[in-house]
Amino acid sequence: MINRRSVLKAVALTPAAAATLATRNSHAQAPAAAAAAPAPTGPHQLPPLPYPADALEPFIDARTMEIHHDRHHAAYVLSLNRALAGHPDLASKSPEALISDLAAVPESIRTAVRNHGGGHVNHSLFWQSLRRNGGTTPSGPLMEAIVKKFGTFDGFKTEFTRASMSVFGSGWAWLSRDRNGDVLIETTANQDCPYMAGRLPLLGIDIWEHAYYLKYQNKRADYVAAFFNVIHWDFVAKRFSKPA
Ligand SMILES: [Fe+2]
Repeated sequence: MINRRSVLKAVALTPAAAATLATRNSHAQAPAAAAAAPAPTGPHQLPPLPYPADALEPFIDARTMEIHHDRHHAAYVLSLNRALAGHPDLASKSPEALISDLAAVPESIRTAVRNHGGGHVNHSLFWQSLRRNGGTTPSGPLMEAIVKKFGTFDGFKTEFTRASMSVFGSGWAWLSRDRNGDVLIETTANQDCPYMAGRLPLLGIDIWEHAYYLKYQNKRADYVAAFFNVIHWDFVAKRFSKPA
């Protein structure tokens, strides 16, 4: 499992991420794709943010996004690649496939793949599920599934908020799709992910303090409330409609 020392060591800025951060701090207006940190050596790469770091202001601040993506997510990718070094048979597997079948991962690296592979998958999904001027409500089959499960969209918001506030320590709260095609809300500890339980994660909120502490300090409820203003529901709805 992740301990505080390993996390602090892991988030040390890589040269590539440092270059990216320096570029952003110079207020360069380069597109987000061009500002992405190059991949560390290995099969997995840090995806660029799909929007500028300040796109989610004022709900999620640019500095948090920079540190979160360029340091924390980059560190998960780096550590995943390190864990997989010497295991070329696993190099072609997607990170989702790796964490969906941890029993197939050699025991010597299973915990590392669980933590860092989970961190890579969770954060890659997190960036994509947010957008500037997000919020509103979903539509189509996803909305129908939400209403079926929670009665109303507000009922979903209440339950998602309650789950987010219930996470003890570091983890995530999720809207997921189960094997029957129904939605559910669940929480996971550390970087565990619904994929590990055979479910499809649709939308996740990062409850690690690194996701909100700079702006919200201990006011997690304010962060969770703000999160609803930046949800990319079209993206979430497309995931819901993916074939099983
Ligand atoms: Fe995070």
